[in-house]
Amino acid sequence: MNRYSVAVIAGDGIGPEVMAEGLKVLQAVERIHGGLLFERRAFDWNCRRYLQCGRMMPENGLEILREFDAILLGAIGSPMVPDHISVWELILPIRRQFQQYVNLRPIKLLRGLESPLRYKQHAELDFVVVRENTEGEYSNMGGRLHVNTPYELAVQNNVFTRFGCERVIRYAFSLAEQRGAGCVTAATKSNGINHSMPFWDEVVREVGRGYPGLQVQLTHIDALVSYFISRPESMGVVVASNLFGDILTDLGAAIVGGLGLSPSGNINPEKTFPSMFEPIHGSAPDIAGQGIANPIAQIWSISMMLDHLGYPELGKLVLDSIEAVLQEGLIRTPDIGGTATTAELGAAIVDKLMQLE
Ligand code: NAI
Ligand code: MG
Repeated sequence: MNRYSVAVIAGDGIGPEVMAEGLKVLQAVERIHGGLLFERRAFDWNCRRYLQCGRMMPENGLEILREFDAILLGAIGSPMVPDHISVWELILPIRRQFQQYVNLRPIKLLRGLESPLRYKQHAELDFVVVRENTEGEYSNMGGRLHVNTPYELAVQNNVFTRFGCERVIRYAFSLAEQRGAGCVTAATKSNGINHSMPFWDEVVREVGRGYPGLQVQLTHIDALVSYFISRPESMGVVVASNLFGDILTDLGAAIVGGLGLSPSGNINPEKTFPSMFEPIHGSAPDIAGQGIANPIAQIWSISMMLDHLGYPELGKLVLDSIEAVLQEGLIRTPDIGGTATTAELGAAIVDKLMQLE
């Protein structure tokens, strides 16, 4: 029996609702394989806990998580807690401490769904964004001075290290090789941001020289957002800094059907620490508690976890099951034009998984 320990942080809002469906899928995967066991341990690290005891996770939270093979996260965030607290006290420490320097975000139009880009078919919308996940614009270096005076100022430093840029850019190039994508597109803004972005561009070119079979496209972020809409089929692998990647992938989610469908992996490629898998959406307070959140992003994140743990055939089976349910078109949550509940869509995907097996 192959055993994997999985820490489950369902989080806030719709997090626990979509996680419940994800875990049913994981259980079905265990049944199908027969020799695979995911030992799950749930942690109530969320905003409710913060409001009760002033911490999102215990002081030794990272030490606890470190022992796991993988982490599944639902979503974090509550209108009762400032977002910079909930994100900086839970998600960012996990990504940084565990060197999850790749945030892998597939932008793929699933069969059975239509893109809001009306002429684009699913074969034309299938690429991956590799977002830097440990430095860049999301750095806590900086501060505020002269608070509450007319001279008040705020400074936030962007941090781009050679080590940090090289490793994520190299990951993107080797992923492009694996996927048979001819080209790596790197998001830049070296015309306006005149220190860090020219440096980023240099590292892209340097790393790119090691991959003579791949074309390198340095594209300014403002043009790149328009290309996501006008010619997404020209994208193979896109590599971007932390902030640019964050914004690009919400746009990416929108062109393939919405936030409820888009998963992500926070990957530590060397596997020296656990990686973390989560939907890219947040806790959606506007629909939380109604049982109508789309669980597909969460379930797809579990498919990515299976890929990462060395079971790509099971990861594919999960994704095939999602697509098969969407192609039948009978059971859909409201965000993709149906009336089904979260649990109904989750159950349909589990049923399909058992049939396809
Ligand atoms: P959000 O992703 O929670 O919601 C944006 C919109 O998408 C809402 O209209 C929501 O109803 C819809 N939506 C999101 N997921 C959906 C799903 N699975 N099914 C159907 N509709 C879905 O983003 P928002 O509103 O900016 O943030 C809400 C909270 O979530 C904030 O506290 C924010 O900080 C947090 N957040 C947490 C993230 C995480 O845990 N990794 C990521 C993004 C936001
Ligand atoms: Mg985001």
